[in-house]
This record gives sequence, C-alpha cells and structure tokens, in this order.
Amino acid sequence: MRIVLSDSKSSSIDAVATLLYDRLSVHPTSVIGLATGKTMEPVYAAFVEMVKANPIKLDRVFFFMLDEYLGLPDGHPSSFKAYIQTHLIKPLELSESQFAFPPVHAGSIHEAAEHYELSLKESGGIDLQLLGIGTNGHIGFNEPGSTKTSRTRLVHLTGETQKSNQGQFVDGKVPSDALSMGIGTILDAKNLIMLATGESKAAAMKYLMNHHDDPTCPATYLKSHSHFVLVLDPEAASKINLKI
Ligand code: F6R
Repeated sequence: MRIVLSDSKSSSIDAVATLLYDRLSVHPTSVIGLATGKTMEPVYAAFVEMVKANPIKLDRVFFFMLDEYLGLPDGHPSSFKAYIQTHLIKPLELSESQFAFPPVHAGSIHEAAEHYELSLKESGGIDLQLLGIGTNGHIGFNEPGSTKTSRTRLVHLTGETQKSNQGQFVDGKVPSDALSMGIGTILDAKNLIMLATGESKAAAMKYLMNHHDDPTCPATYLKSHSHFVLVLDPEAASKINLKI
C-alpha cells in the first residue's frame, strides 16, 4: 500500500483526478472502475476541468460502475447511474454505451450478477479502480462481514450506511439492498486508488492502518493488493501518525 498524504482536501482531490487523467492520457483504451458518493464528486469535477483544459480522447475508455441500489426505478435521481450521468457522462459528452451498470433491474439478480462478472472478465479486467470508503470501512457496498473472495452479488446495507447516505435521497428513504462488486472482484483490478477525506473517515483510516484482512473492516483486505494507493487529506489522517 502506498499512502499519499495531501496537505489539503483540494490537493487530495487533485491527486486522484490527476492519477485518472494521466492514466487515460497514456492508455486511452483503459477499463476504469468508478465509485460514487460525496467523496468522489469533486474528483469527477476536477477531472472534467482537466479534460476541458487539456482535451484527451475518452471515446475508447470503458467504465464499470462499482455498485447500485436495488429497488429504485431506472433514472431515479439518487441512483448511482443518475450520479455518474450528472458528474461524468453529461459534462464530458461520453456515450452510455461506454458504461456497464450493475444490472439491478434484471429478473434474476443472481444470474445478472454472474453476467456482470463475466463482462468484467471479457473486458480484460479493470485497469484502475477508484474507491471511496464508508465510515464503517465498507468498500463498494461490501459491508463488514464480507469475505475477501466475495464477487458481485446482492448485499444488504447496514443502518450506518443507510444513515450516511440519507442526504442523497430527497425523501431520505435509502434502499436496504444493493448490487455490489465483491472484494474479490475489486482485488482483481490491476490498480486501486482509494480517496478518504474529512474527519468522518478518520476512525476508519486508523483502523485500516492497524489491521489486516479483518472482516469487520473490509477495506483492510485491500492492503494485500500490490498496487493500492490510498490518498488522504489531513482530516482523514488526523487519527494516524503520519507526517507530510
Ligand atoms: C459508492 C461506494 C461507497 C462509497 C462510500 C463513501 O459507489 O463505493 O463505498 O465510496 O460509501 O461514501 P461517501 O463518499 O459519500 O462518504
């Protein structure tokens, strides 16, 4: 694990956006895994700015979304599909055909999850996976208790996660289930970049530093990945002993 401790929230955001931009400048046919959430919003905004300032070709990039809520109608404004349309697809005029979305509207979720795994495999695998982290250490929607070998599947959200995500729902009603890539799926990506910003992530960061392969904090599974970059702002790093 490589840790990048930034001197401000904005430089941590710029660091992640730059890693994505640089990757796509050099490898325009990359397969990218995308996370959603509040943390990633400014990263996508910074990336969009970079592309607009110094255009790069993105029409041969393929994107896989990490997770999606179950039970929302297609096009629901709080779905992760709507999120990525707002933050990436529309501002960069990307085609939706460049995106794979977890098939949450399929008749058989189990079969659809297997199909998503197959699509990932057939794409040649994810070159770069962007990740946030939940206050309880979840990655994607792999909540505490998830196994290291888990694959794309239906998952139940904890009360803590539902509460954290309440602000993203106009009616405050966060679904209880989701479809998420598994830990094993995420570990198959060639490069992992996780961004943690803000004081609310400080306890999870401290736990992550001190534990390994601990099912109560799924992010600890990532420490065995040989290309895992963790980018932190000073607040997220405030409970760990790191110096710039
Ligand atoms: C969503 C995802 C989640 C979020 C996490 C943090 O696609 O992957 O694991 O990264 O819940 O969310 P924020 O950034 O809103 O604190």
